[in-house]
Amino acid sequence: MNAETSACPHRIAVCPGTFDPVTYGHLDVIGRASKMFDTVVVGVVNLPWRKGNTLFSAEERIAFLRDATRQLPNIEIETFSSLLVTFARERGAMAIVKGLRAISDFEYELEMNQLNRRQAPEIESVYLMASPKYSFISSSGVKELATFGGEIDELVPDKVAQHLKERLGR
Ligand code: PNS
Repeated sequence: MNAETSACPHRIAVCPGTFDPVTYGHLDVIGRASKMFDTVVVGVVNLPWRKGNTLFSAEERIAFLRDATRQLPNIEIETFSSLLVTFARERGAMAIVKGLRAISDFEYELEMNQLNRRQAPEIESVYLMASPKYSFISSSGVKELATFGGEIDELVPDKVAQHLKERLGR
């Protein structure tokens, strides 16, 4: 390794979310982030008081993510229950990467961005516009479809679809 390459920092980004469950929209953002950073740490929110509010446990959500990202060499998956910026700092991340689908996402993310920036000005937030193919997918929408027998196979990985149908299907 010469001086030029050794001076090159290892760029770490955190890609946060509840991932209840992971969708192809999330995977699109994670996959694109993995090309921009040396390591992408997927941070799975695991708040004890939110436990009853997620359909899948943190372990299940992580297992789905592991399975769906196994072809990507630079992805790490971890839970966190602190402030997002605290988690990002602990992991040595220079950036937080999120997907943006619609104006409604923008309004929420603008507020989060201001709050996060105030807490940790050294961590940049990076927003990736959702690919048109995935711009309408949300975990809550997928769960609603699964509850009423809608078609979800093109929205989430096979394993996730199977578990959603088992847990929510009527
Ligand atoms: O929409 P999601 O997937 O539930 O988003 C989760 C997350 C952590 C990305 C969002 O809540 C966020 O940006 N929060 C910033 C504020 C924070 O640090 N909250 C603590 C979460 S443990």
